[in-house]
Amino acid sequence: MSFTAKIWDTEFPGVIYNSSGPRCTTLEELSSLWDSTSSAIMMKSCSPEPREGNPLPRYSEVELGSINSIGLANHGYKKYIEYAAELKKQFPNKPIVVSIVGFSHEDFIMLVTAFQNEENVDVLEVNLSCPNVVGKPQIAYDFEWSDELIAKLFAIPGDKPIGFKLPPYFDPIHTEMMAEVLRKYPVSFITCINSVGNTLIIDPETEQPLIAPKWWLGGLGWDYVKPIALANVRSFYKLLGDKVTIIWCGGIKSWVDVFEHLLAGASMVQLGTVLGKEGTDCFERIEKEFYTYMDKKWYTDIKQVIWKLQEL
Ligand SMILES: Cc1cc2nc3c(=O)[nH]c(=O)nc-3n(C[C@H](O)[C@H](O)[C@H](O)COP(=O)(O)O)c2cc1C
Repeated sequence: MSFTAKIWDTEFPGVIYNSSGPRCTTLEELSSLWDSTSSAIMMKSCSPEPREGNPLPRYSEVELGSINSIGLANHGYKKYIEYAAELKKQFPNKPIVVSIVGFSHEDFIMLVTAFQNEENVDVLEVNLSCPNVVGKPQIAYDFEWSDELIAKLFAIPGDKPIGFKLPPYFDPIHTEMMAEVLRKYPVSFITCINSVGNTLIIDPETEQPLIAPKWWLGGLGWDYVKPIALANVRSFYKLLGDKVTIIWCGGIKSWVDVFEHLLAGASMVQLGTVLGKEGTDCFERIEKEFYTYMDKKWYTDIKQVIWKLQEL
């Protein structure tokens, strides 16, 4: 069976790894990802300076998923350079993916330059889609600003693959506009989707919202978002699949989710809320279930499944 993946020259030993978010902020958490069967180590989105993020409570789980307004709490990019060096020394065989986030073109340029020069990092995911920073809209909804930024990032010398984490698009015209921007540059991959932002969940018992920041509005993950993620994967594959690897993130909790997303056009998948809820054992569980199903269907290569959704 061949269930590996590649982003440019970077080989991934499998197709399932963590998303930037739950359980990937500290060196201890990142090390436990190395000990798991995750196919890569994705780090928490890092900014130029350390950030404490939003006030508590800022994360809650309910039956259908999670709501969060963490607000990009992280240790600052210099720490993630140190963590990458430490991790590579101990566990050289898994790709390290850094997730970067900034608040101006200059921030992003500085971060991409720093990581392009960092030998222990393999792949750069640029987060253009955090919905949880007070007063800052999701970057990738501003097509002009994103276009200018992406042009600048690809002018920076370096040979590490760069991809973009996108917000959910809800109207086809917006998906097309973003695809048009991305098509102009040597983008290696896109990750669809970030949390579905600015949503409200109320606890009827306490008659209160579940989280405090941003007037109680937060980003959704898990069951709530799976159909939105599926639609984004499918739409972007149709527009860019000949050129860009599509990575799916949003709503995975079992093999069936992985299978459906491959059918819709994803080549790799990232686990978010399920990792937060279940811990790193989720990688092995989902992988085993997925391989068993592939075997049952007599598939020997994931390429037999990617973008193979049957027409109605
Ligand atoms: C607690 C938490 C923190 C998150 N932090 C980040 C982040 O720093 N950067 C990022 O790109 N996405 C972040 N996300 C979004 C997830 O990576 C993912 O896109 C989203 O939760 C959908 O996936 P899921 O349904 O598997 O949770 C976060 C999500 C959660 C639940």
